[in-house]
Amino acid sequence: MRAEKATKAYRLGEVEVWALRGVDLGVRPGDFLALTGPSGSGKSTLLHLMGGLHRPTSGRVLLEGQDISRFPRAELARLRGRKVGFVFQQFHLLPRSSAVANVALPLMYAGHPRQVRRQRALACLERVGLGPRADHRPGQLSGGECQRVAIARALACDPPLVLADEPTGSLDTKTGKEILQTFRGLVDEGRTVVVVTHEPYVAAFTQRQVRLLDGRLEDGDGTG
Ligand SMILES: Nc1ncnc2c1ncn2[C@@H]1O[C@H](COP(=O)(O)OP(=O)(O)O)[C@@H](O)[C@H]1O
Ligand SMILES: [Mg+2]
Repeated sequence: MRAEKATKAYRLGEVEVWALRGVDLGVRPGDFLALTGPSGSGKSTLLHLMGGLHRPTSGRVLLEGQDISRFPRAELARLRGRKVGFVFQQFHLLPRSSAVANVALPLMYAGHPRQVRRQRALACLERVGLGPRADHRPGQLSGGECQRVAIARALACDPPLVLADEPTGSLDTKTGKEILQTFRGLVDEGRTVVVVTHEPYVAAFTQRQVRLLDGRLEDGDGTG
């Protein structure tokens, strides 16, 4: 993943908000990176650009060597489905569906048959230590367990890149550290993991840290 002079402006009626003001950042395969910075500094925006959820206003974003900054939306969604797993602070699980059904959802969008979906979803739950909870619904699980289900869902399509936005923000420190261990395991398997955080203990856990301030990387050189 690579951002080159990436900017992002949001329009609020007549007003333009510049969330990113020219970011150069290189993330290599196998990196475990913490993206830090105060609230409003552009962390989520940069994560969304890295994963192809949004396109930059100017500059380029490369994902696995492909410039995705001008990709049509449908193509972007297809690429995202295969290459990127997202994890969010609030888990975003379907409350009426079991853990295994939540994890199987992206496999349904990807067009896999039912048998494959269940098998793969169970394997992903086992991967995060939740095999025995496969048939529980989110309301029957702890916060840490819900976040594991969300990580299993992010892994369902076996993406090389996992992007997490404040994944420990709703968890106590002990549970947060367990979640970080899970991410480290993904890095050990050869995946790339980027974690947005403003918590020092999270940043201290990763191999590499970059800090955003007012839409710019603080040291100006994130090209790595
Ligand atoms: N959809 C949006 N519409 C308008 N402004 C936005 C939108 N998303 C983010 N912003 C603004 O862009 C800036 C950066 O936001 P964000 O990337 O969410 O920062 P962070 O994740 O570091 O808190 C903030 O000023 C925020 O208010
Ligand atoms: Mg944010």
